[in-house]
Parts: sequence; structure tokens; C-alpha cells
Amino acid sequence: MNKIEKTINNNNIKIYIDNNLEDKINCKINKYSDNISFIIKNLKRNYKNKLSNINSNKIYVDDGEKIKSSLYFNMVIKKLLSRGIERDGIISYFGGGTLGDLIGYTSSVYKRGIKFIAVPTTLLSQVDSSIGGKTAINFMGVKNAIGSFYNPEIIFDDVDFLVNSDINLLKEGMSEVIKMALIYDKQFFEYLDNNSLNTVYNSESLKNIIHKSINIKLDVVSRDFYDLKKIRYLLNFGHSIGHAIESYTDNKISHGVAVANGMVMESYIAYKSGYSKKLYDTIKNIIKKYNIDLINFNTMDTEKLILYMKNDKKMEDNILNMVMIDDIGKSGIMKIDLNSVRRYINLYRDENK
Ligand SMILES: NC(=O)c1ccc[n+]([C@@H]2O[C@H](COP(=O)([O-])OP(=O)(O)OC[C@H]3O[C@@H](n4cnc5c(N)ncnc54)[C@H](O)[C@@H]3O)[C@@H](O)[C@H]2O)c1
Repeated sequence: MNKIEKTINNNNIKIYIDNNLEDKINCKINKYSDNISFIIKNLKRNYKNKLSNINSNKIYVDDGEKIKSSLYFNMVIKKLLSRGIERDGIISYFGGGTLGDLIGYTSSVYKRGIKFIAVPTTLLSQVDSSIGGKTAINFMGVKNAIGSFYNPEIIFDDVDFLVNSDINLLKEGMSEVIKMALIYDKQFFEYLDNNSLNTVYNSESLKNIIHKSINIKLDVVSRDFYDLKKIRYLLNFGHSIGHAIESYTDNKISHGVAVANGMVMESYIAYKSGYSKKLYDTIKNIIKKYNIDLINFNTMDTEKLILYMKNDKKMEDNILNMVMIDDIGKSGIMKIDLNSVRRYINLYRDENK
């Protein structure tokens, strides 16, 4: 059993990483007479038996970016009220990052805050979205417009949910895993570079990867919980361009693929601004190694991408604070104006026709 415990912002965070965590989950949930579990419908097909072992009051719900909305927020609140859930009860969720963001946010405001348990079921949600206390829903087309900083009581990362799902879903999370290694941990990066999507697609490797990634994220977050000191910024490597790609394509290109391509483009921009070409090549190669699709930027309008980047929280007076990799495992912030970004994206397009 892999267990991580860390105190962040006076909260003691406990994370279990293992297979067959049903008993542990039940043990925690059953301490509360008022309990309710929100579970994504998608899990019914492959995890019927596993879910039937969970002793809680279950509600099956949709998922995807659409549920991070005021509509679904209202739906969850209505369910909690109609089931008479009091503030000393517990909410749990079983699903990916979208359900996690919705339930985390709802828990933070329901009756001024109720405890919740996270059971993230995608690699991305296990290594990234469930860690660090950020919760959110989208509003009027603005991603994560309404949210809070609120940690779950406990997180159960059950790798059974990963090894029995489509290997393609793993790529989404691997993109964030690769990012964590690049910004923070050279040895971990070498481990990933010596492996591939197929060789990590098993319980033991995944437990190791999840453990290492979570430790990196916790380390960064513990130094800047409220995202005020520009330390959490480092977790945004690949996200300046990545978010622009997601907005441009109306989320048709998924978060993981967008971030991976963001890392490629941002390291290209860094290389053209005087940083190492070798690093850019290394980053592009590992994205290929994990079979993450490389986007053809020639199919996109550079001006439109730049427009979306103007909304980036890392923009200051037309200057982008872009995360760049100094060396594998070491990251920093590079200031670059949008005209240069535009020029380098166009250069990349010319070189990759
Ligand atoms: N709060 C944060 O700090 C933070 C950080 C990163 C990302 N996010 C958010 O996370 C969300 C993306 O999370 P995601 O990638 O988990 O997306 P998701 O929740 O949409 O899940 C992706 C897909 O996987 C399916 N799925 C989930 N578990 C499964 C399983 N075990 N087997 C088979 N299918 C399964 C879902 O039904 C869905 O179709 C975005 O909204 C993003 O903004 C939040």
C-alpha cells in the first residue's frame, strides 16, 4: 500500500494509491450516517462489481466539461437537500477531473462547507486535478470562472480504474505526468524516457508514476497554495499554448493532447529565443514515444491562437510569462512579447509543413 500524507495550508491530506481499495473507502464513508456518492455513468459498464462493493447512497451522473456548469451545480445541490444531507455528513465522488471539479466546488459551499472524499478514476485526475485544492465550474464560456480552494478529506487512487480502461485515456494523464517530470525531477524523466505507453500500462508501474507525480505536485502546491507567489505557475508548462488550443477547438482537442502540444510549441519558442534545441527535441520525442498526437499547427490560424492567449492568466501588458525548461527537471519563467510568440509559431508552421 502506497500512502502519502502531507499538511498543506493547515490541512492534513491523505492519499492512498493501490488496487482494490473498496474496503478502505467503505471504512471511511461508513463513519458518516449522512453519506452520498456521485458516480459517473461511464463506470457502470466496466466496474459494475467493483462499485457494487461500495456501501453508500449512490447517484449516477453525467460527466465531461458540460457538467462544470451552474446547471449541474444546481442539480447536485438539489440532490443534497432532497436527501437531507447535513453539514456533518460526507460527499464522495467517483469519476474524472470534471466531476471532481464540480463536486469539490459544491462541497466547498454546500451549507458553508461539507467534507468530501475523492475517488478519481482517470490518470489525469489521480495525478493532477484531485491534488492541490483547486475546484471550479465554468461560467458564460469562461473556464473555471467560479471556484474555490478546498481539499478533500482523503483521496483514494485505485489503479484498477486505470488498468481496466482504454489505453488511450492513459495518454491524457501521461501528458501531465511528463510535464511534472520535466519541470521538477530529472530521474523521473529518465525513467519515463526509458519506458513507453505500453510498458507503463500495468498496476505496478502506474502506482510508481502516480506516487512520484503526486509528490511533485504537492511539493509545488505546498509552497504556494493560493497561487499567489508564481510558484504554482511552474505547473503551467505547456498550458499557455495548450489552453489556447482547447479554446480554439472548443475542447474538441482534449486537455492532455493540447498540453502536450503546448509543451512542444513552448519549448520550440524557448529554443528560438536562445534556449537549447536539444531540450526541444527531447520534449518532442517523448510526446511521440507516448503516442500522443502531434497537432498540425498549419490547420490553425495563428492570429486566433494569439487572441486566446491574450486571456491567459499569465499575461501582463502583452507580455506572456511563459514557463520554460532550463534543463530537464529545472524550470523557470521566461517573459516574451506576443509579437515574438506569433513570429515563432509561424516559423514552426513553415518548418513543419
Ligand atoms: N482542479 C484542478 O487543479 C485541475 C487540474 C487539471 C485539470 N482539471 C480539470 O480536469 C478536467 C479533465 O479531467 P479528465 O481528463 O479526468 O476528464 P473527464 O472527467 O471528462 O474524464 C474523461 C473521460 O474519461 C471517462 N472516464 C473516467 N474514468 C474512467 C474509467 N476509469 N474508465 C473509462 N472511462 C473513464 C469519462 O467518462 C470521460 O469520458 C478538466 O475540466 C480540467 O479543467 C482540474
